[in-house]
Amino acid sequence: MMSRPLVLTAVAIFAGGLLGQARYSESNADEVKRDSVEDPLRVPGIESLVIPDGPMGDAIRLGRELVEDTVNHPLTKPYVGNSLNCTSCHLENGTHPRAATFIGIATAYPAYSPREKRIITLEDRVLNCFMRSCNGVRPPLGSRPSVAITTYITWLSSNQPIAMNPMRPLGPYAVKGLDIDVNKRNVDRGKRSYTDRCASCHGDDGQGDGDSPPVWGDMSYNDGAGLAGDVKLASWLKVSMPPDEEDLTEAESLDIAAYINSHPRPKFSLKAHLPPANALGEYNAEP
Ligand code: HEC
Ligand code: HEC
Repeated sequence: MMSRPLVLTAVAIFAGGLLGQARYSESNADEVKRDSVEDPLRVPGIESLVIPDGPMGDAIRLGRELVEDTVNHPLTKPYVGNSLNCTSCHLENGTHPRAATFIGIATAYPAYSPREKRIITLEDRVLNCFMRSCNGVRPPLGSRPSVAITTYITWLSSNQPIAMNPMRPLGPYAVKGLDIDVNKRNVDRGKRSYTDRCASCHGDDGQGDGDSPPVWGDMSYNDGAGLAGDVKLASWLKVSMPPDEEDLTEAESLDIAAYINSHPRPKFSLKAHLPPANALGEYNAEP
């Protein structure tokens, strides 16, 4: 009996001490405040990233290989349903500073995803791009390709402070959405600009050639992918295409996006892109 108040006091002091040290607070802020570095290539330390020795280095190198050769590499081929590698959109192995860069994104995860209505991990986000942008089947969580790609992407966030994103699953240097009125899009104008600026590589029929991937049709991204949205595609085109001369105006980008997305592409239905339940995840170790 005598000792009870003492214990309670001790607990109260202990808990108070912990909370005092943690100094967290609740926030309704719309966005996480981030440092104002606009160009991820100017993040201190990014130039001097070193691939570590040993199994970690092997995984980083494998991940880099997989994002570049997603369609043909035996570890990812079974999970890709079109002609797109990750780097068809995440240009230069995800190190292009603006074209959906991989740099810095691991700092944002776990993140809230309005689409999944869940907190998702970076690995989940990687696997979702397999299902949508690559029109394939979600590789098992914890599988070799999934872990290697996530390792490579995480490595590209080395030395950057964590800033989890409570609003959407996007990193600090994600493609900025153009502030344009989608109703101003004009497919006919888009067709003319496409013929002029894009068809030499992607073809009048949108099917590309050996080097340039298709932009619509069965072998392109499905209608559940980010780029299937006209504003999102326009925003990506503005900073990405044509390669090395990204000079489209906002209006041209929107018109071309509307023209590209006016063509048929695979329909997304979640069920068709999930593996059987027993292949959704794996114990992440050798037996
Ligand atoms: C058809 C183009 C395309 C392909 C192919 C593609 N992605 Fe993406 N991916 C995007 C776009 C666009 C976004 C950004 C979405 C947005 O802005 O909402 C994105 C987002 C992501 C993100 C989250 C980025 C962030 O800022 O948090 C990851 C991780 C990712 N992709 C990984 C991959 C991987 C791995 C592959 C290959 C298996 C892949 N993507 C294939 C277009 C693509
Ligand atoms: C000089 C050739 C060239 C030109 C011109 C060009 N692209 Fe591309 N485009 C590419 C290549 C190559 C890739 C894939 C990037 C990679 O693998 O590194 C690509 C990727 C894409 C992608 C993402 C992957 C896919 O196929 O969906 C889209 C969308 C796209 N280009 C649209 C356009 C549009 C629109 C234009 C005109 C404004 C354009 N491109 C001009 C070569 C070109």
